[in-house]
Amino acid sequence: MSMSSYKFTEVHTLIRPMRIDDLPRVQAIDEMSFSTPWPKNAYRYELLENPNGYCWVADVGGKLVGLMVCWLIVDEAHIATIAVNPDYRGMGIGKQLVIAGLQELIPKGAQSATLEVRASNTIAQNLYHHFGFRLVGERKQYYKDNFEDALLLTVESLGPDYLEWLGSGAEIPWLDGDHY
Ligand SMILES: CC(C)(COP(=O)(O)OP(=O)(O)OC[C@H]1O[C@@H](n2cnc3c(N)ncnc32)[C@H](O)[C@@H]1OP(=O)(O)O)[C@@H](O)C(=O)NCCC(=O)NCCS
Repeated sequence: MSMSSYKFTEVHTLIRPMRIDDLPRVQAIDEMSFSTPWPKNAYRYELLENPNGYCWVADVGGKLVGLMVCWLIVDEAHIATIAVNPDYRGMGIGKQLVIAGLQELIPKGAQSATLEVRASNTIAQNLYHHFGFRLVGERKQYYKDNFEDALLLTVESLGPDYLEWLGSGAEIPWLDGDHY
């Protein structure tokens, strides 16, 4: 991954590519964050074996506090997972992970980005709304722990204008108006 994915936030967060020695901490944050954490070897697979996998972490003062995994399949980026240590939420770290990921994947050819999110997870939905994600579908009873529906969200027309906006730090023009 290129150095262009490195970013600093107002809370002095470094977003950098995930490394093999990050895996224990990554798995710990995953377990703190999800009722159905990924299987034990999933992050190792994404990092070392999946040619379409891109993995980042958020580091605050040497402490690993966040993670994101995306898949780039042809021209579609899929946010497979994103999580921030509960003690560090609400500080802009989730936003910085999404920004860094899209800044890396758009130049690699991503023209759209998609993800699934639990219907009840309004915090994550708010995060994605900042980036222009829109509701395009539902997957009924997608989550097997409680049979909750997944919302399928997409943002399209990624390209130079979107990249310029991502780098500008400006309030995004599509925040007013419709919300799912
Ligand atoms: C979703 C998650 C990654 C967000 O990370 P974060 O670092 O707290 O997010 P940020 O501080 O960058 O906040 C980004 C936006 O999310 C929304 N948000 C964050 N915390 C919120 C809260 N407590 N209530 C409502 N919205 C909230 C806001 O829209 C916020 O933007 P704003 O501060 O400009 O209003 C984090 O809450 C998390 O790890 N949740 C558990 C795992 C998870 O649900 N992952 C998503 C799976 S689809």
